[in-house]
Amino acid sequence: MEYRRLGTTGLEVSPVCLGTWRFGMEHEDSGVVETGREEAHELLDAFADRGGNFIDTANGYGGGDSERWIGEWLADRDREDYVLASKCYWSTASRFQENLSRKNVRAEVAGSLERLDTDYLDVLYLHRFDDGTPIERTLRTVDDLVSEGRVHHVGISTCDAWKLTKGLWKADVNNYEAFTVTQPLFHAAYYEDVAEYLAVCADQDLAVCPYSPLAGGFLTGKYERVGDGTYDLDVPEDSRGEFDEMFEQWYVSERGWHVLDAVRAVAEEVDATPAQVALRWLIDQPEFTCVPIVGARTVDQIDENLGAVDISLSEAQFDRIFEARYDEDGTLYRTND
Ligand SMILES: NC(=O)c1ccc[n+]([C@@H]2O[C@H](COP(=O)([O-])OP(=O)(O)OC[C@H]3O[C@@H](n4cnc5c(N)ncnc54)[C@H](OP(=O)(O)O)[C@@H]3O)[C@@H](O)[C@H]2O)c1
Repeated sequence: MEYRRLGTTGLEVSPVCLGTWRFGMEHEDSGVVETGREEAHELLDAFADRGGNFIDTANGYGGGDSERWIGEWLADRDREDYVLASKCYWSTASRFQENLSRKNVRAEVAGSLERLDTDYLDVLYLHRFDDGTPIERTLRTVDDLVSEGRVHHVGISTCDAWKLTKGLWKADVNNYEAFTVTQPLFHAAYYEDVAEYLAVCADQDLAVCPYSPLAGGFLTGKYERVGDGTYDLDVPEDSRGEFDEMFEQWYVSERGWHVLDAVRAVAEEVDATPAQVALRWLIDQPEFTCVPIVGARTVDQIDENLGAVDISLSEAQFDRIFEARYDEDGTLYRTND
């Protein structure tokens, strides 16, 4: 596998990052646990054995089990071979601390390090922007963590483009460690809402690690449209569409169906699967380093998704997927917003 530089961090990462959001995720109504401890370790083994070295988690995933299980798994491996990213914002300790205050950030990073059983995070993302805490205060806190060696690089997830810019500016004028890695929601059918954010990333050499790059599985093509309505879909058994009641709202849209048609057509042309094409489309972003954070629940899905590394798209195929968001009159197909 050919590794790539994660923006300006100097870290060498696999072109695909493994997301672990669904590790330990239990659905209250059905009691379904999407990925249990044993499966999580199998997925991590499969990812690493095929060359993957970049793993994404967060303090609260699976109530801390995601970090705990990664930590257990890492105990038998060389920590230095892996790039670990975690996040803070929501408190694991108190409902009064859902913010980026000094107290919460320090407590949550300490908790993450303990659960992961490691001395440092390669990347700490601010999971959300906290409008109630001046960003320079949070950055000062994170800068301390960098000085202490507990965090190596700082990132930020979903936020408005102007807030991303404000954070960069406040870091610059105060000489604090600045964001070098970002984690927006971004995939072939979800671009407009994040276009400004991505323009900042391109301009400021920030690495982009899109989350939900397969639109929760929608862009794999395993959901079939069965009627004329946007939400008339055939949901495969034991899939996210079956047990996540937000599936349609988050991942399915008129724009999504048209982009999926284009992704499917290109997949046929290059003898690949829609999932591989959707991921390759992200890896090939021309304006910034783009390392999609893909989720997977089976080793077969990991195999398939990592296959994105070995295919190539022509410029025309890349553009066709991008342009599939528009109808023939040049009007954007509707999203759910
Ligand atoms: N920063 C944030 O706020 C934020 C938010 C969300 C996620 N994230 C990060 O991004 C990661 C990825 O998010 P995501 O899980 O939504 O990503 P995704 O890659 O869009 O969706 C993953 C899901 O799609 C299905 N799938 C994956 N590969 C498949 C394949 N080859 N064939 C068929 N189905 C396949 C699986 O679900 P089923 O098999 O169950 O259908 C899998 O759990 C998370 O783990 C997390 O690390 C961050």
